[in-house]
Amino acid sequence: MEKVKVGILGATGMVGQRFVQLLVDHPWFEITEVAASERSAGRSYGEVMQDRWKVEREIPPEVARLEVKECVPELQCRLVFSALDAKVAGTIEEEFAKAGYVVSSNARNHRMDPDVPLLVPEVNPDHTEIIPQQKKRWPKGGYIVTNPNCSTIGLVMALAPLHRRFGLKRVMVTTLQALSGAGYPGVASLDILDNVIPFISGEEAKVETEPLKILGRLEGGRFVPAEIAISASCTRVNVRDGHLESVSVELQRQATEEELIQTWQEYNPLADLGLPSAPEHPLVYRPEPDRPQPLKDRDEGRGMTCTIGRLRPCQVLHYKFFLLSHNTIRGAAGAAILNAEYLLKKGYL
Ligand SMILES: NC(=O)c1ccc[n+]([C@@H]2O[C@H](COP(=O)([O-])OP(=O)(O)OC[C@H]3O[C@@H](n4cnc5c(N)ncnc54)[C@H](OP(=O)(O)O)[C@@H]3O)[C@@H](O)[C@H]2O)c1
Repeated sequence: MEKVKVGILGATGMVGQRFVQLLVDHPWFEITEVAASERSAGRSYGEVMQDRWKVEREIPPEVARLEVKECVPELQCRLVFSALDAKVAGTIEEEFAKAGYVVSSNARNHRMDPDVPLLVPEVNPDHTEIIPQQKKRWPKGGYIVTNPNCSTIGLVMALAPLHRRFGLKRVMVTTLQALSGAGYPGVASLDILDNVIPFISGEEAKVETEPLKILGRLEGGRFVPAEIAISASCTRVNVRDGHLESVSVELQRQATEEELIQTWQEYNPLADLGLPSAPEHPLVYRPEPDRPQPLKDRDEGRGMTCTIGRLRPCQVLHYKFFLLSHNTIRGAAGAAILNAEYLLKKGYL
């Protein structure tokens, strides 16, 4: 199979680097373009990233050689991954869709649009059926698909099988979010060393609303949100990568702890599709009393698995547990790549 040529918008940021790292040896996609702001454009990626490359291993030489372009829709590729700052992502992504590009975006701007899938292929693959409707807005065949916020994704992966089998009524979640989620340089070291910050602008609203669209139904050409009450409290902690979340749930039907664990362990809807970024196990339950932990569990399934642990009864709702997901892989670049693989497999590219 000839590889699909792809570009990365916002390639110089924290998430952009993850895209480069995850796409460089990808069996289906080939990076042909990297783009960012006019501050970075015109120089080689290697030169721009000399002091900014923060992920493991070196900058791949074949990408280091590429010239950083501006984010205008004149790139030599069919598909673009967007890791753009939300201040500019909305308009730039629309310009690309209008010009006929397929846009797989991490940014929040279009997630809740009524004709844009907020896609997690394990959870709501049928939401891609809205794409033909969206394409009417962009007559050259482009369209936008988004992945959820980095805290939403782990939550929704753990909740989806419970909701399908037992029904969910109410959810309480407190997040302990890693520093890389704030971009680079992000939070100043003197603000976060020896500290926890109990506020992340706009985050709680996203965690309370995005799961309702994802767990909702696509009916008659519109998204009907799931009827679940979610209350979120979001904090920033002194961890490099990996968002930990403390979750309590109230179910519609009674279930035992064993049934919940079995439901998570059996959940693998993409098992037969052969998507390169799909982990062997999307959900892993750890029985140890002190797991999951960011340092030990964030790289499970090459950063694409959500690890759950400490399931126990809750005195207020029914059950409580912890979950962990890698915020710049499953919560950002890896999620957008998995979405694109799903679109390619299903003939949308
Ligand atoms: N970090 C996470 O864990 C995470 C998770 C999920 C979603 N997201 C979302 O993903 C996006 C990127 O996040 P990040 O943490 O990687 O941010 P970041 O490190 O601040 O990177 C932002 C990127 O946007 C580019 N940019 C800024 N202004 C621009 C402009 N006017 N025109 C074109 N490009 C411009 C920057 O290019 P220059 O280098 O040239 O300035 C850079 O490549 C955001 O929308 C964020 O909300 C992040």
